[in-house]
Amino acid sequence: MPKRVRIAVFPVAGLGTRFLPATKAMPKEMLPVVDRPLIQYAVDEAKEAGIEHFVFVTGRNKGVIEDHFDRQFELEWTLENRGKLEALEKLRADLPVAGQTSFTRQQEPLGLGHAVWCAREMVGDEPFALLLPDMLFKSTPGVLAQMIAAYEKTGKNVIAVEEVEMGEISSYGVVGRGPGPDEGFEVTEMVEKPTPEDAPSNLIISGRYVLQPEIFSLISRQGKGIGGEIQITDAMQKLLADQGFTGVKYKGRSFDCGSKVGFLSANIAYALERDDISEEFLKELKASALM
Ligand code: G1P
Repeated sequence: MPKRVRIAVFPVAGLGTRFLPATKAMPKEMLPVVDRPLIQYAVDEAKEAGIEHFVFVTGRNKGVIEDHFDRQFELEWTLENRGKLEALEKLRADLPVAGQTSFTRQQEPLGLGHAVWCAREMVGDEPFALLLPDMLFKSTPGVLAQMIAAYEKTGKNVIAVEEVEMGEISSYGVVGRGPGPDEGFEVTEMVEKPTPEDAPSNLIISGRYVLQPEIFSLISRQGKGIGGEIQITDAMQKLLADQGFTGVKYKGRSFDCGSKVGFLSANIAYALERDDISEEFLKELKASALM
């Protein structure tokens, strides 16, 4: 049996420039999809996959993420006194157990690879999950749980992938597909943000990873890549040569909430599934579509 994956890393230091001015004073990870902040969905997905410790790599102006995963006594007291016990229960269910969260800061925006490297002391010598909260998945079981199933078979590094239109390929990391089924195939190469001509396939890295701790020393020796940033994909390409990677073409639907259209689509999809609002919301959507 491979070592169990207990720790998840959430890089949340990004400036969120695509959502200005909403993200001027508020972290983009706190933008709500219906009534839950994006970061909560990623933490829920990790919890479902058996993660026990949540490491957040934050930056300046991200303090409310730490507050979000803490108790709020005044609010709890008020809800209790007003008899809003269901809301209180829900709040409590979302809360990680004390001691299950850690926060560290990426002091400079040097890239995703650097953000992950900032978590090295907290992760130590264990395999870990990496979740980019911009990517939101509607799937049962969750995408990380699907990946952990593949990890338990191979004990390797695992990435989730999905197909995109070739026109979008240059926004993502892209993988080459070797033999094996969708639930676990061999990854032959990984390239960060290639041109369509250089892309090895139309399969992108979907923002979910299970990585072995050897990635940290590779990142520390990793020079700047595309965009002048230290790219996790470049370090993973080196780890691929040493250890191999398993790709999982996950079952489910994704929303790239780093883009406005992805974020709005996620809100529509999640709202339409909510018993409390779906009927009324659908009426409004239809009315807007007719305008
Ligand atoms: C990052 C990764 C990229 C991945 C993408 C998924 O890119 O570097 O490989 O495909 O997330 O969202 P970013 O969105 O930070 O540019």
